[in-house]
Amino acid sequence: MSGTFEAIIKHTGATSEKKSASATSQTMKAIRIHNYGGPEVLQYEDAPRPEPQAGEVLVRVHAAGVNPIDWKVREGHMKDFWPHKLPLILGWDLSGVVEELGRGVSRFKIGDEVYSVPDPTRNGAYADYIVVREPELALKPNSLHHIRAAAVPLAALTAWQSLFDTAQLQPGQRVLIHAGSGGVGHLAVQLAKWKGAYVFATASTKNQDLLRKLGVDEPIDYTQQRFENVARNIDIVLDTIGGETQERSWKVLRQGGILVSLVRPPSEEKAKALGVRDAFVAGHPSGAQLAEIAKMIDSGQLAPIIDRILPLCEARRAHELSQSGHVRGKIVLRVKDQTS
Ligand SMILES: NC(=O)c1ccc[n+]([C@@H]2O[C@H](COP(=O)([O-])OP(=O)(O)OC[C@H]3O[C@@H](n4cnc5c(N)ncnc54)[C@H](OP(=O)(O)O)[C@@H]3O)[C@@H](O)[C@H]2O)c1
Repeated sequence: MSGTFEAIIKHTGATSEKKSASATSQTMKAIRIHNYGGPEVLQYEDAPRPEPQAGEVLVRVHAAGVNPIDWKVREGHMKDFWPHKLPLILGWDLSGVVEELGRGVSRFKIGDEVYSVPDPTRNGAYADYIVVREPELALKPNSLHHIRAAAVPLAALTAWQSLFDTAQLQPGQRVLIHAGSGGVGHLAVQLAKWKGAYVFATASTKNQDLLRKLGVDEPIDYTQQRFENVARNIDIVLDTIGGETQERSWKVLRQGGILVSLVRPPSEEKAKALGVRDAFVAGHPSGAQLAEIAKMIDSGQLAPIIDRILPLCEARRAHELSQSGHVRGKIVLRVKDQTS
């Protein structure tokens, strides 16, 4: 592959103009990878428009959320775990409108505004259309337009499943959330506060005000303080960082507390020796939980923060920003022009 990303876009645009009307109706624009690698492997190009099978829904994507898993897949880190076929459309976070129903779909109708985390082993949402299984879909929050709605599903489901399903968070418990300003963290903070927890969260100096606005009881500037000097007797640590941060997190837990990691399975031996519990969470799609989350959003109890909105064709820039590790809230790709 030669040339810049912009050159690739121009090239594929010219190719699509030559296609006949009928061929065009079967294709769509998408960001795909044909091989694993850096941001330069992202190609904005024509791809076949998918067709919904029984139990599936075709969604016209209006916006797609960007998550670290997108560039991890792009770099090939998941290739031994997920049976992806190349070329692959990335992006497993979306908001859009139901375009077509497969046989047997009963909970949705054409024109419904929906959001979803689709099955991450299949093609994703960096595209005009995606096919999603019915149980992975929910009506999007009424109070959010598509761009903001697309920021929610993957990060909110991960936070929900970590704090509520795995850690069984109870009112009054003390929670430490690492990277409270990140995609998962800023929603996890709000969910923990909603449940009545006392919340500690880490971020750098520039994000301390944000942590306070989100409701964090004790914001910790990880560039100035060691979090273990501030957070003690913690019931639940949500580890979104891994490495040394995970290692140092053991000592803040009270007896019986739990270290929940999203990035690296914590050591079972260490947990046993310390009299605490450990868990690794791999988030999974759930339309039912997204429906609960939509209710919370519409009643003003949860809100996403958007760092940046970029057009679909700038997915490369979105990945570079995400890989910097310092996104504040979420990056969202605008797929359909009319939404903002
Ligand atoms: N297992 C799963 O199902 C699952 C699901 C979702 C995400 N994940 C993983 O969880 C991780 C977090 O995801 P995300 O979407 O929340 O990431 P993200 O949005 O990219 O996180 C960025 C945030 O991390 C903060 N940060 C960076 N270094 C930090 C440090 N040393 N201590 C505290 N905060 C720090 C940054 O704040 P500053 O700019 O202030 O430093 C920034 O706001 C990723 O590795 C992702 O792949 C796993």
